[in-house]
Parts: sequence; structure tokens; C-alpha cells
Amino acid sequence: MEKIRKYLAQKLRVFDSSKYDGQSQQKTLRELSLNGVVEYIKENENLKIITMAGAGISTCKYLPAGIPDFRSPSSGLYHNLEKYNLPQPQAIFDLDFFMENPEPFFMLARELLPEGFKPTPCHYFIRLLWEKGMLLRHYTQNIDTLERMAGLPPEKLVEAHGTFHTGRCLKCRAPYTLPWMKKKIIEGIIPKCEECDEGVVKPDIVFFGEMLPERFHDLIERDFVQADLLIIMGSSLVVQPFASLVDRVRSNCPRLLINKEKVGVQDRLSRLLGLRQGLVFDTKGSHGGRDVAWLGDCNTGCQLLAEKLGWADELRDLVKKEHERLDAEEKTD
Ligand code: OAD
Repeated sequence: MEKIRKYLAQKLRVFDSSKYDGQSQQKTLRELSLNGVVEYIKENENLKIITMAGAGISTCKYLPAGIPDFRSPSSGLYHNLEKYNLPQPQAIFDLDFFMENPEPFFMLARELLPEGFKPTPCHYFIRLLWEKGMLLRHYTQNIDTLERMAGLPPEKLVEAHGTFHTGRCLKCRAPYTLPWMKKKIIEGIIPKCEECDEGVVKPDIVFFGEMLPERFHDLIERDFVQADLLIIMGSSLVVQPFASLVDRVRSNCPRLLINKEKVGVQDRLSRLLGLRQGLVFDTKGSHGGRDVAWLGDCNTGCQLLAEKLGWADELRDLVKKEHERLDAEEKTD
């Protein structure tokens, strides 16, 4: 059976993490729950944690973050684009469409620009993991720059879908900064390159039809096989190749999902074929017994996790201190 699984994994180009299983001492969860994960973190020294995030970590309602996610019914970005008259919602992030008509993207960017937004408790929880020496890397699909604003050092961060932080002329590749682009976008002007006088300046976010950053491809090879715990937060796990990163950790590595809904769940075909693809909740099957879903708001989930780890005050103080600092900075701008 194992031989057949390996053969199928190879044929279907599914990442086969089992070849790395012997490289570390097997650590497992004693209980498939948030408490089980907490015990696991407390009991294992030098734990290497990878966090993966999507738009759901920035949608927090009670902080000014309030950025919409993409796919939530009614509040998601893709459900609210009628006014831009697009052939289909995803066209707003489609490179070919953008080359022909960049206006809808910049109109949307004007609404979404990281202006007055602050990182959420969830972002600061990830920073705490770093401060405690546990964060191997944070992989994000978000382009809102909130992880940077939360103080995560660039070397710990992989912005898989790029970032608004910098931009580039599509014709001569001249680089531009966020403040430069922001000024034009807020004034309702399509940013045009001042070097070649021709190209449109596009923020360095990855559009459909573009390659993901090299840093992403380089680091996933190294990082995932080393991880002792994977925490996935606020993503529908539908956009590839990001979604399939969950399969890159070793086959015994515990995976915790903190999200409003269960996502990335193994489909029937790969279950039938015995492939290690997708998250396996509610079962202790052949390779189950390591995935935990905590369903609810990301911030509540992170605050609860922090409380159970004995870090609640630290997290609260960090959020308060950092938000005060950002408020003060905003006033002096
Ligand atoms: P989605 O909008 O697809 O998914 C967000 C997920 O977070 C959903 O499962 C929501 O239920 C959940 N969610 C929303 N708010 C939450 C909250 N406060 N607490 C917990 N869960 C919450 O966003 P992504 O997965 O990030 O790509 O989307 C992936 C990519 O699709 C984006 O990076 C973007 C888009 O097309 C590009 O722009 C290239």
C-alpha cells in the first residue's frame, strides 16, 4: 500500500513529505484539541513553528484593521465589485486585464490602501512567537503590509503574493515606494513612471498570471520539512500554490487551523488513493491524528491560545503599546 501511495504521489506530483519523516524525533499531540496543541508547545523545547495566513487575519471588526477578505459571502471583496464592471471578479487582479485597463485596480486600491489600518492581536501573536524564538517563518498571502507594521523582521516573513510596500514600472522596471504610489492613488491618478514616462507603476503584488517571488520558492524547500508545528489562520486555502504548503510539513507534524470555517480539508479522491493531501480533521485514520481545527474569529483564537500558554498579559500589553506607538506616528505624519 505504501509503495502504491508513493507511486501515485509521484505521478500526481503531490509533495511527498514522508521521505523527511525520519529526520527528526517524532513528536505528536496527546490530544486533538487546542489544549493538546498548548501542551505540545509547552512541553517541546526549541519548537520550530511556521505560521500561514490569509485575509481573515486582517478583517477584525473591532479594530481599525477592518480590511475585507476575498471570498466571504456578502462582505468579501469579490462580492462587492459590481461598480467596476469587470468581466469576472478576479479580473481586478489579472495581469492581462490590468495592462489593458488599470483603472478598476487603482480605484479599488484607493479604498484598500493600508491607511489608518493597524495590525490585529493575531498579527501580534505571530510577533510574540518570534520574540520567544519559536517562529521559523511566517508565510502570508496578504498584501496589506500589516505583518511588517506589527514588527515582524523581514527575514521571518514571506509575502507569497507580494506587497503594496514597493512598486515597479511595468515597462522599464524602475522601482517606486509606497508613499509615492499612495499619493498618486489617493489623488485618483494612475501612477505613471517618471523615468521612462510611459509605463504604469504597479504595486509589487502578485497578480493572476504572474510568478510568485523567488524567496517563496527558495524558502519553502528549506522550511517546511523542518517545522514542528504549522498554524494556519484566516485563509480559505483555495489559491495555489500557497494552499498546498500544508502538505509540505512532515507527515507527523501537527497542524492547527484557526479560522471561521474548516478549509483545506482532504478530498475524497486523495483519501481513497491514500495520498497525504489536505487537512484531516475528525478522524484518527491512517495518517490522521495530528490536525486540529479551532473555529471562530482569528483574534479570539490567538488570544485564547496566548491565555492558555500564559502569555495573555504580554499579548495585551504588546497590542496596546504598539497601537499607541502607531497612533503617535500617525499624528506626527
Ligand atoms: P479568502 O477571502 O479566500 O479566505 C478568507 C478566510 O478567512 C475564509 O475562510 C473566511 O471564512 C476566514 N475569515 C474571514 N474573517 C475571519 C476572521 N475574523 N477570523 C477567522 N477567519 C476569518 O482569503 P485568502 O485565503 O487570503 O490573491 O485568499 C487567498 C488569495 O485569494 C489572496 O491572496 C488573493 C485572492 O485572490 C491574490 O491577490 C493573488
